[in-house]
Amino acid sequence: MGISKTEYARRRRHLMALMEPNSIAIIPSAREQVRSRDTHFPFRQDSDFFYLSGFCEPDAVLVLIPGRRHGQCVVFCRERDHTMELWNGYRAGPEGVVERYAADDAFPIGDIDDILPGLIEGRDRVYYSMGRSAEFDRHIMEWVNTIRGKEASGAVPPGEFTDLDHLVHELRLFKSAAELRIMRRAAEITGKAHQRAMRACAPGVFEYQLEAELLHEFASHGARSAAYSSIVGGGANACILHYIENNAKLRDGDLVLIDAGCELQGYASDVTRTFPVNGRFSKEQRALYDVVLRAQEAAIAAIEPGNHWDDPHAASVKVITQGLVELGLLKGSVNALVKDGAYRDFYMHRVGHWLGLDVHDVGDYRVEGSWRALEAGMVMTVEPGIYVAPNNTRVAKRWRGIGIRIEDNVVVTERGCEVLTAAIPRTVHEIEALMEA
Ligand code: GLY
Ligand code: MN
Ligand code: MN
Repeated sequence: MGISKTEYARRRRHLMALMEPNSIAIIPSAREQVRSRDTHFPFRQDSDFFYLSGFCEPDAVLVLIPGRRHGQCVVFCRERDHTMELWNGYRAGPEGVVERYAADDAFPIGDIDDILPGLIEGRDRVYYSMGRSAEFDRHIMEWVNTIRGKEASGAVPPGEFTDLDHLVHELRLFKSAAELRIMRRAAEITGKAHQRAMRACAPGVFEYQLEAELLHEFASHGARSAAYSSIVGGGANACILHYIENNAKLRDGDLVLIDAGCELQGYASDVTRTFPVNGRFSKEQRALYDVVLRAQEAAIAAIEPGNHWDDPHAASVKVITQGLVELGLLKGSVNALVKDGAYRDFYMHRVGHWLGLDVHDVGDYRVEGSWRALEAGMVMTVEPGIYVAPNNTRVAKRWRGIGIRIEDNVVVTERGCEVLTAAIPRTVHEIEALMEA
């Protein structure tokens, strides 16, 4: 399972077909980041660079030059170096990049100042994602200035700079069959991890111990990191949307909210389950849980080609508002409460986001001012929630401090949608049955 060399080449071809004639695209890799003194964070390739190359080393630059006779895909990368490889691991080197990543040509990164200005010279337009790295922005200007310095001898600097993001991100929004296979597997591993955490859960266990169960399961299936910092929030900690301290003891009678997903071959999964620490939902917990579950079902039912990005969200808002009115947490007419946004005290985020190489993946949500229509191949999360702040004195005490989110990953198909994470226990009955077993 993976993305083939030909698929990477196809992606580059698609991008080049979208570029204006006589242009060049410059895409830098990610850089290594210092964690402390001489240790680094685990290297994570830049998602755009990875999408277009599959190449996982730092200090590299991908250059695409549509129509160039001597090769349209040029890569600059680290040279092979016996000593450096002995200490720090393998490098592909320029030859390996040509062989294994289907580049037409590759050069040592140290030669980029001498070679790249010559590739840019004479092109009308440079595509580049400006503003991500001040240092690389400066390099781009230096290369252009090198050309300007030679104008008297006939060199022609580019006249236009265009942000590359839009073109690449539009491609990334639509997942191929191979990408979906990886995302399905990531969903499967993430599902195993959530079930493992449910089994390990009991009063007195610490939040970080459940996090450890998740990470163990991810890593033992080859997904060596989480796609984002895992959230394990017991009781009222679940009401802090991005709670990652994960250091409290889980208490009998509370719920615990786990939002965690693995990253597999660069692709994220993003799943939330909320379940009782002692294995049985209380009456209030179950009542709110079922509202969130119904909201999620309504949102998923609204996912099909032709519907708009906002339709699932609107469906979830309606069900949650109605549920909160029925339970007495909101008072008034459902339509008026929806219109006034009264639900936002309890449900303060949107129902989801695109999912892919980045957990909050790229792609526009609006097109020409309107919510975008859903199309087959788009992958999104569906994650409604209800969070009753512990200090919300406008509701009866028994509701306070309950936080619930249910999050699944969904791909739009030709006729509707497919829930990639459907196998993970989700209903009250399924969760209680698993925890009792
Ligand atoms: N885990 C981040 C999110 O659900 O968006
Ligand atoms: Mn999440
Ligand atoms: Mn999410």
